[in-house]
Amino acid sequence: MRDGLGRQIDYLRISLTDKCNLRCSYCMPKEGVNIIRHERILSLEETVRIASVMRNLGIRKIRLTGGEPLVRKNLAHLLHALDEIGFPDGVYITTNGTLLKEHLDELEAAHIAGINISLDTLRPETFCRLTGEDMLGSVLDAVYEAYDRGIRLRINCVPIRGINDDELIDIANLAKDRRIDVRFIELMPIGCGREYERIPSCEIRKILERTFGTFTACDDEVKAQPAKMYEVPDFGGRIGFISPMSEPFCASCNRIRLTAEGFLKLCLEKPDGIDLRTPLRENADDAKLADLIISAVRRKAASHDFSASGAGDHKKMVQIGG
Ligand code: 5AD
Ligand code: SF4
Repeated sequence: MRDGLGRQIDYLRISLTDKCNLRCSYCMPKEGVNIIRHERILSLEETVRIASVMRNLGIRKIRLTGGEPLVRKNLAHLLHALDEIGFPDGVYITTNGTLLKEHLDELEAAHIAGINISLDTLRPETFCRLTGEDMLGSVLDAVYEAYDRGIRLRINCVPIRGINDDELIDIANLAKDRRIDVRFIELMPIGCGREYERIPSCEIRKILERTFGTFTACDDEVKAQPAKMYEVPDFGGRIGFISPMSEPFCASCNRIRLTAEGFLKLCLEKPDGIDLRTPLRENADDAKLADLIISAVRRKAASHDFSASGAGDHKKMVQIGG
């Protein structure tokens, strides 16, 4: 499936819930978000239905997100159904890791292609302050257990001035003795993210190179990956940078997003998209759903514009799933 600008769209991110068991202060407002009423959330069957139409339209890769996707009940059923559909580039999940350990069996059984774990700090006090929960231990346990099982892991860290800027070296070190990739993601001014100060990727790279030596860019990366990945001397894993603010990658964007309510969102930063839940519940057939998706995708915006006034106001990050 191609959008109006000729970009190949083959990657679908599915947000399974707007709920999260953490309250990261740059993501979730303190008072929480209005939890979507149960009936408004796509059932797992409805999600599978859309995924299957998407597969026929050329979607090759799925990523399950949230909120926190692992708080969704009966996840195993969905994982199994997606595995049956068969996505050539795999089904992945992005999780905060707190509930991961007890889900590893079902994830493995459904041939999960890889797990991204969001981890912004290795200090229990900072973890508590940032997320509101004392759960760093469970996250680290899950990381090591998943690693020992040979699951492909990536750690995603959002560096924030005054919060975790003094421990970026320690976080990068997670990639040293293990084949785990650590990626630093620039904070985007979405929702509460606007109240914190982003650290540009180039600054982090300089800090890390001072300690670890010169990084070598990996040229084997598929173009569609927004992360710039680097080899680091004596490291088992790689270090990467995702720089939506300092180096936007919209020109090679290959992704669309399905929210938990069944809204197909065309760009992370824009409200544009189309409601798929209504036609789904009005018994639209696959051809009708496919038509709706194709015509929406044609209208996908050329790029995000976080500088536009009010940008990012429409939804909180926790409701989009990153
Ligand atoms: N900018 C960048 N990343 C964000 N996340 C949440 N809010 C923001 C933001 N404003 C990240 C989390 C997690 C993923 C689901 O989204 O850290 O890695
Ligand atoms: Fe934190 Fe992710 Fe939950 Fe947001 S969705 S509160 S970033 S764990």
